Amino acid sequence: MNRNMIIGIVLIAILILSVGTYFILNNLSNNTQNDENNQNNNENNINSGNDTNDENNEISKSNTLVVYYSATGNTKAVSNKLAENLNADIFEIVPVDPYIDEDLNWTDDNSRVTKEHENESLRNIELTSTTVSNWENYDTVLIGYPIWWGIAAWPVNTFVKANDFTGKTVIPFCTSSSSGLGQSGDLLAELAGTGNWQNGHRFSSNPSNSEISEWANSLK
Ligand SMILES: Cc1cc2nc3c(=O)[nH]c(=O)nc-3n(C[C@H](O)[C@H](O)[C@H](O)COP(=O)(O)O)c2cc1C
Repeated sequence: MNRNMIIGIVLIAILILSVGTYFILNNLSNNTQNDENNQNNNENNINSGNDTNDENNEISKSNTLVVYYSATGNTKAVSNKLAENLNADIFEIVPVDPYIDEDLNWTDDNSRVTKEHENESLRNIELTSTTVSNWENYDTVLIGYPIWWGIAAWPVNTFVKANDFTGKTVIPFCTSSSSGLGQSGDLLAELAGTGNWQNGHRFSSNPSNSEISEWANSLK
């Protein structure tokens, strides 16, 4: 073996070692990234009609789901805190045609919401999705909504009519300025026709964290 052959063999060995090391390090870094992603997915699994519910997400291990509709954010804030406290997944009800501020002006006779309130046939609100991934895995479903004229804001109706609650405990909750839950839960139960509906709970528009966690703890 002459000197050039030896140098050649050494160079090839160095090349093979470098490529091998590169692949090993790259693999390690991808694994770390995947672990971080999985951890984020597990922390609060968003199972939403709006946000993409990535089919590659790990299947949720939670058996509790918080479903909510919120026009101006109050019910959303409560729902997020409840989901966090209960380690539940969350699904947002999203109208295809969302309500903007002027739609919600109940003091205006010509606003969208006033017209819908006065004419029940206008209350069939189309949603971006009524399908919850792994629906069969949830045995407890909390359903949250704002009170509109004493009843559940009607975008919730579309979700309730579209899903089968057989075998599930269903717990309504609402936010409102002053009204109680009233008949809202009973009316939704009637629309659903299935599920073991509980009495539920009314929150003010901006309840304290302790009030939210107290109610969440009472459900555990
Ligand atoms: C169209 C409309 C009707 C409402 N009707 C009532 C009502 O009958 N009783 C009440 O206490 N609050 C009523 N409110 C206030 C909301 O229930 C309250 O602000 C709620 O927290 C809003 O929740 P959101 O931010 O999740 O949409 C109404 C609000 C709107 C926009």
